[in-house]
Amino acid sequence: MGDKKTFYITTPIYYPSNKLHVGNSYTTVAADAIARFKRLTGCDVWFLTGTDEHGQKIQRQAEAAGKKPLEFVDEIVAWIKELWEELDIDYDDFIRTTEERHKEKVAKIFTHFHEQGDIYKDKYEGWYCTPCEAYWTERQLNDGNCPDCNRVVELIAEEAYFFKMSKYAKQLEEHIESNPDFIQPVSRKNEMINNFIKPGLEDLCVSRTSFDWGIPVPFDPDHVIYVWLDALSNYITALGFGEEDSIYETYWPADVQLIGKDILRFHTIYWPIFLMALGQPLPKTVFGHGWLMLQEGKMSKSKGNAIDPRVLANRYSSDALRYFLLREIPFGQDGIFSLENFINRINTDLANDLGNLVSRTLTMAERYFDGVLPRPSSGEQASDTDLRELALATPVAVELYVNELKLSDALAELWKLVRRSNKYIDENMPWELAKDPAKQIRLGTVIYNLVESIRFISVLLQPFVPRTPGKIWEQLGVSNNQALQEWESLQEWGKMQPGHAVARGEDLFPRLNLQAEIREMQGDQPAAKEGISETAEMEGLITLDQFQQVDLRVAEIVSAERIPKADKLLKVEVDIGEGENRQVVAGIAEHYKPEELVGKKVIFVCNLKPVKLRGVLSQGMLLAATQEDGPLALTTVDRNVPPGSRVS
Ligand code: ME8
Ligand code: MG
Repeated sequence: MGDKKTFYITTPIYYPSNKLHVGNSYTTVAADAIARFKRLTGCDVWFLTGTDEHGQKIQRQAEAAGKKPLEFVDEIVAWIKELWEELDIDYDDFIRTTEERHKEKVAKIFTHFHEQGDIYKDKYEGWYCTPCEAYWTERQLNDGNCPDCNRVVELIAEEAYFFKMSKYAKQLEEHIESNPDFIQPVSRKNEMINNFIKPGLEDLCVSRTSFDWGIPVPFDPDHVIYVWLDALSNYITALGFGEEDSIYETYWPADVQLIGKDILRFHTIYWPIFLMALGQPLPKTVFGHGWLMLQEGKMSKSKGNAIDPRVLANRYSSDALRYFLLREIPFGQDGIFSLENFINRINTDLANDLGNLVSRTLTMAERYFDGVLPRPSSGEQASDTDLRELALATPVAVELYVNELKLSDALAELWKLVRRSNKYIDENMPWELAKDPAKQIRLGTVIYNLVESIRFISVLLQPFVPRTPGKIWEQLGVSNNQALQEWESLQEWGKMQPGHAVARGEDLFPRLNLQAEIREMQGDQPAAKEGISETAEMEGLITLDQFQQVDLRVAEIVSAERIPKADKLLKVEVDIGEGENRQVVAGIAEHYKPEELVGKKVIFVCNLKPVKLRGVLSQGMLLAATQEDGPLALTTVDRNVPPGSRVS
């Protein structure tokens, strides 16, 4: 640490409701590239990521999967950590909101707000979007759907705590206006001010009572803290906010909080207001990047149209995937993911431009100089000057773009040097020089300059595609020469030592056949399919086949009687059109009188394994709707159909 400039960068903490997709990977890959760039240029970096594990959405997903919430998320979190490892995400900390270090601090924060008078109790009546975990008023809905994701919202009415947003609205607006870097890109800033702040901030509901998967309100444990208040706090709880001798003082306020534009409102309105209420400084920049879209729309975990980044990374290398993500989404805008775009990028930029530059150069070094790096001559020709000047200017340009978070532009800048180097080969035609012994010195200079330019490129590539530079250094023979891999070494042209051995290695990025890839990945290939069926499985989805294994039929209740000493159970006899009646034990005695039941036609599960309950044989199951504190309702049919009719 010492006197280094600190740099704190965060990603959103993802919902482990399902495996992550390439879209989620984008944010994390971008944050990792920025973090690595800052480390390379000498900053003391702290890079935080993690998972947002509480809330109704997770609770429901876990239920659908037949698991306890923690058991459910544990598996997905393990998968996410493997994904980050495969994508070379070099984070400093991974926070899970189910960890004690987080929960205990969130509870304190909530109590603090309450004691300060920022939180009061009332009743919430309005709409809720569970996929977004967001409250909406009637007026905000979009044709009755969530205005953010356009999915169905639910009406909720429950006692809740509210946070007085309006108290801080003016202060927030002033902060946004006087700190142009706070919300980026600028277009998003206007959207927040005009759509949310100007019309007047409504108080925010910050607790729920209708489910329990969350952090309990310490002084009123029937309530769990609203998942966004819980989640947003991670950025400071992970640093040990409120603890003595924590790294909070070192790193907060964050330099960059990277998020997708979908969650900008939470990060530029709620989050800064919570921080103001805590008396803490606000992050320097919240950057809302664009989306990676599929041709048919936004990729989404819950839509199940997601593309599994691990399938892509395994097949095409994590560097190829990282490069694509960082290059394809222009600054602040959306980008399209298609296998075609992806393969084309790999082929043009990585295989042709970069791969060929390295292989051509090293092939010539081997052929003309037996793999010994020649010495450059002192005289410089125009193309040499051009190449050298561009190489020296490139780190500056790349750094400027990275500082503006324009990663795609940063790579475009770096690729100018790659292309310039290729052009340098064409201009100097080493194969012609090689024919004339008098031009041996010139040939040596050309090869030397190319190797030095490749070294510049390799150093600059590190933050973006961390595996490739090592492969290049191997070929340049500088694997063990740390000094030539550092940012500092780009201050000066000509640091490669003539006389040492270089050797052509394997191609960095083999060219791919677009048609073959499309056939394999989108056709009947297991590789592509796997990604999809695994996704479905994680969401608790079943196939039609699986559903049809359940034999559902209409059953007419023939008789019903109480079972002695079992208050909840009735022995029910049903006709399922088989000639012989079936007998079941049903837990409905508290909700129906035996005589009420006779003649009802209900839905019945015919192929359950028989069991004995209180010594009475039960050969199936009556379906009923349950409510938390209301009576059961048997499922009946809304037309008169004969017993035994199939239900499908
Ligand atoms: O919102 N293109 O989590 P989440 C690019 N838990 N980025 C995308 C994307 C796409 N198609 N889809 C998702 C949550 N993302 C909350 C965050 S933070 C305190 C709590 C990225 O799992 C983008 O960064 O739904 C977006 O903001 C994030 O994934 C949402 O992830
Ligand atoms: Mg989401």
